[in-house]
Parts: sequence; C-alpha cells; structure tokens
Amino acid sequence: MEFKFNINDYFKQQIVAINHNLIPPGFSGDRRQLWDSVSKVTEIVNALGESSAAAQGLTKAITTADRLRNSEHKLFLLIDPDHNNGKGAISGMLKVGKKTLYLFDREGNHFQVTPLCILDFYVHESRQRLGLGKILYENMLEEEQIEPVKIAIDRPSDKFLGFLRKHYHLNSPIKQMNNYVVFDGFFPEEDTKS
Ligand code: ACO
Repeated sequence: MEFKFNINDYFKQQIVAINHNLIPPGFSGDRRQLWDSVSKVTEIVNALGESSAAAQGLTKAITTADRLRNSEHKLFLLIDPDHNNGKGAISGMLKVGKKTLYLFDREGNHFQVTPLCILDFYVHESRQRLGLGKILYENMLEEEQIEPVKIAIDRPSDKFLGFLRKHYHLNSPIKQMNNYVVFDGFFPEEDTKS
C-alpha cells in the first residue's frame, strides 16, 4: 500500500509495532514533527483498516486509528522500504490484543480466559501468498513470546485458516459462539477447568 509521503521518513525497521500513542517507534523530533508523525500513522492505520475490511467483506473497519488510540492493542506493520520509487510502502498489518472470553473446549467444558487474540490481519492483495504474512506472524510470536496454539482468533477468514493450517499445522478449529476460534492445545490443564 502506497502513500503520497515517504514511508521511510517515519519507519526505520522492516516491522514496527504501533500502540495507542500512534507514535512511530524510535521517534525523535520536536512537537511539530511529533504531530506530523502521528497524523501520518493515523492515515496509514485508517487506510490499512479499510483495505482489510474490504478484503474480508466487512462493511466497517475493525482497525482504525481512533480504536487503536483507545485500546491496549498492538498493531504490527510490515514495511517494504524499496517500493514506490524508494518512498516505501506498507505490505501488511497484524493487530493483536488481550480479551476476556468465555470459551468452550470440545467436551463442552467452559473456561473464562484472557488470551492474546488475533484481531485483524491483512497483507496487500499484490503481495499475498509470498510468505509476508508468515514473516509478520513470526515476528509477533517472538515479540509476544507465545506459541500459535495459545492464541484465540476473532472471526478467521478461510484464507487465515489455511494460513494457520499450512504454517502451524493448526487443523480442526474449535469454533465458538462468539465467533472466536481456538485449536486443540489451547485450553489449560484439567485441574483449572471451571
Ligand atoms: N486463498 C487460500 N489460501 C490463502 C490465500 C488465498 N487467496 N492467501 C493466503 N492463503 C493461505 C494459504 O494457506 C497459503 O499457502 P499456499 O499459497 O501454499 O496455499 C498461505 O496462506 C500463504 O502464507 P503467506 O504467504 O505467509 O500469507 P499471506 O502473506 O498471503 O498472508 C493473509 C495471509 C493475511 C490471510 C492474507 O492472505 C490476507 O490478507 N488475506 C485477506 C484478508 C484476510 O482474510 N485476513 C484475515 C482475516 S481474519 C482476522 O483478521 C482475525
């Protein structure tokens, strides 16, 4: 995804994590530059959120700068610094956050848990199926120090389910009434069941 401004002026790494303050990691500058950076991040987040929603057939974006500002979610952005005649482009995004959920295992036992959740995931149409989603996902796993099986997924698309099957051998999703999905191995041990 391309923008009129130079992405490389704002992001210095291939993958950056944005949180509620919408400030690019490693930012240094005066108040005017800070305001400019936050407004560029706002534009990027809103554009990615809209594209992701369109790709998933949703009428409303799950990811907006406003929602990120008012949350403890983390948004990882994948940067391609060489694209767009050296102005850089954003290839994809992955949003995670903790949620308190009531979930059922296959036997119908229910659990109240607060796992890390995948809330939004998108790779630009021109760059899908090239391994970029995997790069983003692996970076998130490393940053969050978590195994794929311990993550809950909010309304995964068929493409995302295919992705999880291919890269992490997560088969047979346990679909929940609240539209979340988890996999065998997600639930805690027997003695902590409610
Ligand atoms: N059709 C079927 N499976 C697909 C497709 C597709 N068009 N695209 C990716 N996949 C799955 C397949 O398993 C594929 O492996 P294969 O090519 O050998 O069949 C694998 O993902 C490819 O892995 P990557 O290249 O690492 O993944 P990619 O960079 O394409 O990113 C993503 C995966 C984010 C799901 C991307 O395809 C995408 O943005 N899709 C549209 C939006 C979407 O569905 N996002 C998830 C919404 S659910 C949520 O956010 C909680």
